[in-house]
Amino acid sequence: MSGVSGSGLGEVPLGGFGGFAAPPRAPGGFPVVGIIGGGQLARMCQPPAINLSLTLSVLAEAPDASAALVVPSAPVSGHDDLQRVRAFAAACDVVTFDHEHVPAHVLAALEADGVPLHPRPEALVYAQDKLAMRRRLGEIGVACPRWAQVRTAGELAEFAAGGTPSWPVIVKTTRGGYDGKGVRVVDAADSLDGLADWFALVEDPQGPFRDGLLAEEFVPFDRELAVLVARSPSGQAAAWPVVETEQRDGVCARVIAPAPGLSAGDCAQLTEIGLRIAGALGVTGVLAVEMFAVTAPGSGTTYLVNELAMRPHNSGHWSIDGSVTSQFEQHLRAVLDLPLGDPRPRAPWSVMVNVFGADHDELYSAYRHVMAADPGLKIHLYGKGVRSGRKIGHVTACGSDVDALRERTAHAADYLAGVIDE
Ligand SMILES: Nc1ncnc2c1ncn2[C@@H]1O[C@H](COP(=O)(O)OP(=O)(O)O)[C@@H](O)[C@H]1O
Ligand SMILES: [Mg+2]
Repeated sequence: MSGVSGSGLGEVPLGGFGGFAAPPRAPGGFPVVGIIGGGQLARMCQPPAINLSLTLSVLAEAPDASAALVVPSAPVSGHDDLQRVRAFAAACDVVTFDHEHVPAHVLAALEADGVPLHPRPEALVYAQDKLAMRRRLGEIGVACPRWAQVRTAGELAEFAAGGTPSWPVIVKTTRGGYDGKGVRVVDAADSLDGLADWFALVEDPQGPFRDGLLAEEFVPFDRELAVLVARSPSGQAAAWPVVETEQRDGVCARVIAPAPGLSAGDCAQLTEIGLRIAGALGVTGVLAVEMFAVTAPGSGTTYLVNELAMRPHNSGHWSIDGSVTSQFEQHLRAVLDLPLGDPRPRAPWSVMVNVFGADHDELYSAYRHVMAADPGLKIHLYGKGVRSGRKIGHVTACGSDVDALRERTAHAADYLAGVIDE
């Protein structure tokens, strides 16, 4: 780890690192931050890393992974290849994550090697395993949807029968889901056959579904919110304003910061929940807490926690352009136990809209139109190949008229994707 002698710029092949080149370290005592996973979250850590003279090293899934295109040190390996992950981590001063899929035995081996991991595996498990997360949030008194662990269609029907109304219910895989993959809505008792494939996997004692499935009440939410906080190993914490997130088919489509119409009291209450979870679970780095806002006639709005992510999160992309310290810079500061930056917004409103792949893959040609139409708009594309429905970038606009920002970002995202052409 810090014993690695990075020798200035240029990569030095070192057999001791499993054939990986040691990351080029800037002179002056600056550390190397390792990120397991080469997606867009790792990629967006690179601009603040440059500014802070930190070196990133990314363990990428492929040579053309989003982050591998911009981070010079990007060895290629699966995140479950124990020996290669260990070799990668040995050349880093701290290791963090682009996703939550690194298996427990790999994390345990890294800890045994003395690699400082942030978040630590004891915290990360609550972002990896939705059943563990539900149990732990219950223990610390955080309100969640009604839930149960189910292993059979019969147990699911029993869970549903305990609800008012009984159906629909939500069923989730406990591990490995993202962007709505691993979430199904079951409408009625007679549609349980549609889950036969998942229940079959539960039977496999070695399989990824061996702990069963997570059943939840279907929450009739008014809207979804997210609380984003950062916490450092020494316990310093900072919170961005609570945001409103809109999901389409389970995938984040738009984020508005701050959440329109949220009272100061509710904002403070939700921020307190985010900070309490971060502290109680010992989270280090950025923590996103996804929430449902539910208004029942006569009883006001209540808030239920949906899930946790322990890394920069789509609900915080607005912060690159819209806040004094972006979630990516803050994550780097937090995992290095540096003092945290100011998370306050720079403008009254920021609106971030994701760009999804459509059917045309020539993205650059859209720049001329989008840039000319709206010089104040910020475009972020991730260097990813276009596939239908794939997140390939986002746009952000900041200002004082939230309706205008909504329109500008929607137009730009649609134009970039090729959904509209004018
Ligand atoms: N209990 C629920 N009731 C209603 N909608 C839900 C529920 N759980 C999840 N959803 C919807 O599905 C989306 C994805 O679910 P989530 O558990 O966050 O999975 P992922 O890990 O894929 O983000 C949520 O953002 C929300 O829109
Ligand atoms: Mg989610």
